[in-house]
Amino acid sequence: YDLTAHNTFGINARCKRYVAFDNVEEAQNVLPSLVASGEQLLILGGGSNLLLTADYNGTVVHSSILGVKSSDDGADHVLLRSGSGVVWDELVAQCVAENLHGAENLSLIPGEVGASAVQNIGAYGAEVKDLITEIEAIEIKTGHLVYITNAQCEYAYRQSRFKRDWKDRFFITHVTYRFSRNFVPHLDYGNIRGALAEKGIATPTPSELRQIIIDIRNEKLPDPKVEGNAGSFFMNPIVERGQFEALQKLYPNMPHYIIDNEHVKIPAGWMIEQCGWKGKTLGRAGVHHKQALVLVNKGGADGKEVLALCQQIQLDVQAKFGITIHPEVNIR
Ligand code: EPU
Repeated sequence: YDLTAHNTFGINARCKRYVAFDNVEEAQNVLPSLVASGEQLLILGGGSNLLLTADYNGTVVHSSILGVKSSDDGADHVLLRSGSGVVWDELVAQCVAENLHGAENLSLIPGEVGASAVQNIGAYGAEVKDLITEIEAIEIKTGHLVYITNAQCEYAYRQSRFKRDWKDRFFITHVTYRFSRNFVPHLDYGNIRGALAEKGIATPTPSELRQIIIDIRNEKLPDPKVEGNAGSFFMNPIVERGQFEALQKLYPNMPHYIIDNEHVKIPAGWMIEQCGWKGKTLGRAGVHHKQALVLVNKGGADGKEVLALCQQIQLDVQAKFGITIHPEVNIR
């Protein structure tokens, strides 16, 4: 089965079999027997955070579980329970249209609802962990349906237990989010206010805020239909305050975000640009010319070429800044 259309990097790779489930019961029945037969499973959402470095010698499993149901949660909040196969940005668009708030800054993030809960997607000062209340999932080995609370997921920046000790253990079927009826715009990240001001907007409506986020993303991030990519390839490293202060003496203009008293986050894209990689290529893999955190397929690249570029960048950033940057993308 050809996976080219199932990964936004556009890597030409294959798997033995591809299975999509559009209802919970079928997935509960089939998944345990698949693993019992010794089959390896790769759970795939929109394929927007994946680098395939070889053919996958197993079954790729996808959720096509759709449907969004709402219920009131007090006077000010609404719970939305969404199928894991719903496209994330379609959910955001629906919420903005229905005056349910909290996800505007997460507009246009690629991928599906299931992955939003694995990855704790985040952008422009917002993270989905602040909306998620509960996750319904199938324990793959047993087929049992389980309900997982937000706290149990141990969410942090681009992190959750689904990426660590729960890796490959659950198949997420539904995610419940809590939206607010009151609109409190978050405009403090980066250049949101500036972009709004250019349009003569000081206090945006929810749909104006959504549109400005879409415009900013479209301006900086490459369109996978034109040039294959998986968004940010690396996570922004979080370093000790002492290390940050030493670096800041060398690079007074280094952008940074204070996490807490002891920790500072440094944009990997800035470091990669300082290493001279922005807009450069290695083989058929490249570094996006407007945002160095994004690696791109310059046409016909295989996963190993992208991985080679990733490793060279890691070495250069390590040599120049003494910081190890880690891929955010799932490398298989
Ligand atoms: N910067 C550079 N050169 C670059 C890229 C960035 O100097 O080539 C500097 C910028 O000038 C800015 C800072 O680095 O001072 C941060 O840049 P930006 O706001 O573009 O965001 P980022 O930290 O590079 C993160 C997320 C993005 C998200 C943006 C906006 C991660 C791994 N990435 O990128 O997420 O859209 O913030 O919130 O945290 C994604 O995950 O696929 C993704 C695009």
